[in-house]
Amino acid sequence: MSLPRGDGFIHLADYRPPAWRIPSAELQFELGPDATEVTARLALSPDPAQPGEALELDGEELELLAIALDGQPLPPERYDYDGRRLRVHGVAADCTLETRARIHPAANTRLEGLYRSGRLLLTQCEAEGFRRITFFADRPDVMPRWRIVLRADRAAYPVLLANGNPVSTRELGDGRHEATWENPHPTPAYLFAIAAGAMERVSSTLETMEGRRVELNIWAEPGDVARCAYALGAVERSLRWDERRFGRCYDLDVFNVVAAQDFTMGAMENKGLNIFNARYILADEATATDADFLAIESVVAHEYLHNWSGNRVTLRDWFQLSLKEGLTVFRDTEFSADLHSRALKRIEVVRLLRSRQFPEDAGALAHAVRPDRYREISNFYTMTIYEKGAEVIRVLHTLVGEAAFRAGMDRYFADNDGRAATLEDFLAAHAAASGRDLAQFARWYSQAGTPELHVTDAFDAATGDYTLTVTQNTPPTPGQPEKLPLLVPLRFALYDASGRAITAPPEADAVVHDGLAELTAPTHVLRWRGLGARPLPAFNQGFAAPVKLHFDYTVDQLARLARLERDPFNRWDLLQRLATDALLGAAHAEAATAALGDALADLLADASADPAFVAECLALPDFDTLAEALPEVDVDTLVARREELLDRLAEEQVEGLQARYDALADAARGGLGGEAMSARALRNACLAWLTRLDPEAKLAQAQFDAATTMTERLAALRCLLHFQAPGADAALQAFRDAHAQDPLVTDKWIGLVATRPDPEALDEVQALMATPWWKPANPNRVRALLGSFARSNPLGFHRRDGAGYRFVAGQVVALDAINPQVAARLLGGFESWRRWASPRRELAREALASLEGKLASPDGRDLLQRLLG
Ligand code: ARG
Ligand code: ZN
Repeated sequence: MSLPRGDGFIHLADYRPPAWRIPSAELQFELGPDATEVTARLALSPDPAQPGEALELDGEELELLAIALDGQPLPPERYDYDGRRLRVHGVAADCTLETRARIHPAANTRLEGLYRSGRLLLTQCEAEGFRRITFFADRPDVMPRWRIVLRADRAAYPVLLANGNPVSTRELGDGRHEATWENPHPTPAYLFAIAAGAMERVSSTLETMEGRRVELNIWAEPGDVARCAYALGAVERSLRWDERRFGRCYDLDVFNVVAAQDFTMGAMENKGLNIFNARYILADEATATDADFLAIESVVAHEYLHNWSGNRVTLRDWFQLSLKEGLTVFRDTEFSADLHSRALKRIEVVRLLRSRQFPEDAGALAHAVRPDRYREISNFYTMTIYEKGAEVIRVLHTLVGEAAFRAGMDRYFADNDGRAATLEDFLAAHAAASGRDLAQFARWYSQAGTPELHVTDAFDAATGDYTLTVTQNTPPTPGQPEKLPLLVPLRFALYDASGRAITAPPEADAVVHDGLAELTAPTHVLRWRGLGARPLPAFNQGFAAPVKLHFDYTVDQLARLARLERDPFNRWDLLQRLATDALLGAAHAEAATAALGDALADLLADASADPAFVAECLALPDFDTLAEALPEVDVDTLVARREELLDRLAEEQVEGLQARYDALADAARGGLGGEAMSARALRNACLAWLTRLDPEAKLAQAQFDAATTMTERLAALRCLLHFQAPGADAALQAFRDAHAQDPLVTDKWIGLVATRPDPEALDEVQALMATPWWKPANPNRVRALLGSFARSNPLGFHRRDGAGYRFVAGQVVALDAINPQVAARLLGGFESWRRWASPRRELAREALASLEGKLASPDGRDLLQRLLG
C-alpha cells in the first residue's frame, strides 16, 4: 500500500510492503453507546529489509487519551497525530505500543467502524473502517494474531462476540461483565469484528470432515430470532459444500453470524463472526419472498466461502479486491447451481450482468477487474469487481476444465495459506496446475470494457465450404483508449438441415477442442469442408465468456435454433434475443414479435416445461439491458415500445396464461420445495401479464386477498399498485398496517411505490419523505425508496422535465453527510448519462454539475469527478 501521489490517486505500481509488522494485537473495549474506550497493545517489529522507516499508524477521528511505548508514557514531542495518521518518532526496533482512544458509536452514521444498530453495538471494517476504531496499520497485508477483550454493562449487553474462539468470561462486579476472544489465524484488520447486545440465537453443532466440532450460531435481536432458522440451514449447507467441492474445512470452534437492521452493504465475512444486513438473514414464508430465500442462501454461502477465499488467503492490497470477491462470487454461484437448477442460476447471473455490469463497463465509471489506481476504494465494490470478476474465473474454469481448476485452487490455497496474495499468485498456481501459459488470459484483469465478437459466415454451395469469421474488439473506456485482444473461449455448434449437430471439427487458425475455440487474435476463421447444405450456427452456449456476440440471424433462424438448442439457458437466451429484435430490430421487428409469440405459446402449452423456466422466458429484457444495446437512449420511446409489446403479447397469449395460472394453483400452495417455488414464479409472471388486460385487476385482487405466502401477496400488490387498480390504495394500506413493525417488509411496499412506472411516482416518493417512514440513516430504507427510484423507475428518474435527476442529486448531497457509501451508490445511477438522448443528457449534466463543491466525502467527490470527467 502507499499514499496518494500528487494526482490524488493511489497507484498499484507504488505498492511497498509494510515497513512495520504487527505479529500480535490485543484490544480491550470498554463498551458504551455514547462513548467507547479502546485500548490497543500492538507488538511492532520493523521490516529488516526497510530499516529506519518511520512508525506510522492510521487513525481516523479518534480521541487519543493515552499513549505508551514499552510501558512508558510517551511525552508529546515523541509523537504527533493529525486526525488521520499517528507518527511515533525515534523508534527503530521491536517494541510494544499501547494507545487508548475514545470513539462514539451512537454518533457514527457512516456505519463504518463501531456503530449502533437498534440495541446492538457492532462493527464494519472493510475496507478502511478499522482505523475509526483504534490506531493501526489498516492495510490487508498486516495480519496479527488477535486477542480481544470486551467489557460492557451486562443488562444492556449480555452477549459479547468477537473474532475467533471464546476464551473466558467473568463478572466485573459493577454490573459489568467481560468476555475474551482469541483469533489464532493471522488476520488483517478489515476482518476484525465485534458485536454486543441483547441478542438471542438459533444454533446447531456439526463435525467437519477433519473431525472438528463446530458450533454454528445465528444471532439477532430477540423479536427476530424466530426467523433465523433458514439462514442456519444455509450455513450448514455452505460448510458441507465447501468440503465436498473444494476440500475446504472450517477452522474455528465456533462460527457466529449476527443480523443487523442497519448495514451499508449485504454482509461481511469477518473471521468467525460474519455480520449481516438483516435482509439476508431473516425470513419466513409470511414475510419473505421465494427470491428472498434464495438470496439469503446465496449471501450466507458467499460470506461463509470467504473463510478460505479471502480470510485464510487474503489480499496484499485493495487492487486485488476481485481476487477474493470475483472468486467468492464464482464459488457461491457454483454452490447455488449445484444445490438447485444450474440453468436458472445461469439465467439469473447473466441477467444481472447484462442489466448492470455491461452498462457499468460501458459508462463513465468503467474500470478494470483489477484497477491500477483509485482515489477511494469504497467506490470499487462494484458489479465489475464482483460479477465480471466471477465471469473471468468462469472463463478460466472453461479453459482448463473442472479437474485442472480444482487442482489449481488446491495449489493456490496451499501456497498462499496465511498470506496476503496477489492476482499473480493466483495465476501462478493455476498455470502450474494446468500447465497453461495464462499471460494473455490475464488481460481480462487489466482491460476494462465488454468485449464484442462479430461473427459472419459464408457458404460456397459448389464446394460445400462453410466459414465462420470471428473478429473481436473491446471499445475504449475512460483512460484506456486502445485495447488488446483477449483470450476468449468461444463455444459453438453447427446444425444441419435435419437439426443434427455437425460433429466434425473445423480447420482453424485457433486451438479448437470439443466445440470450443480459443480466440486469441483480432480475427479467426473456422472452416468446414464439404457440407451438403448451409448449416445453422450457434454461439457462446452457457454464456461461457462475458462478451456481446453479434451474428446477423434471420428471425426464422432464431426461431429454429430456439427449438434445436437442448440447453435451457441457450433456449432462454435465444428468446431474449428474439424479444430484443422485436423491440429494437426495426427491419424484422414484426417477424420477431410473431416468432416470439409462437415460442411463448408453445412454452405455455408445454406442461412438462419447468414452470420457473417458463417464467424466465416470459420476463423480457429489462429497460437497462435494452438501453445498453443502443448507442443513444430515448427513454420514452424505449419504455413505450416495451409496454406495447407486452400488451400485445398478453392479448395473444391470454388463454395460455390463464390456463397455466389456474393449473398451477395447487402446486403453488405453500412450502419452500422447488416445485412450489417454481409454480409460484410462473403464476406470478402470468398474473403480471394478465393484469394488463384486466382494468379492474380482479385476479390480482383475488390473489392478494387469498395469499398465504409473501411471494404471492407481494406480486399481487405490485400488480395492484403498478396498474393503479381500484383496490390499490386499500390493499397498500392493509399491507402497510399488517407489517408496520417490520422494517424489511416495509421496505418492500416502499420499493413498490417508488417503482410505479409513471413520472408522477416522484411525487409519491417525495411525499413519503415527509412521513415517519423515511429513515435516511437506514441504508435499506434509502435503497428501497431512492435506490429503486433511481435504478428501477425509468419513467420517474428520467422525467422529461429533469425533476427526477434534480431530486436524486439533492438527496445525494443530503445522504453524503450521513453515509457517504450509500450516497455514492445512489450517484452511480447517473453512470450512463452520456448516452441519454437530449434533452436528458443536458439535464443530467446540469444535475451533476450542481453537485460540485457540495459533496464532502472522498467517496462522493471521486465519483462525481469520474462521472463528469
Ligand atoms: N466483503 C463484503 C462482501 O463481499 C463486502 C464489504 C463491502 N464493504 C464496503 N465498505 N464496501 O461480502
Ligand atoms: Zn464478498
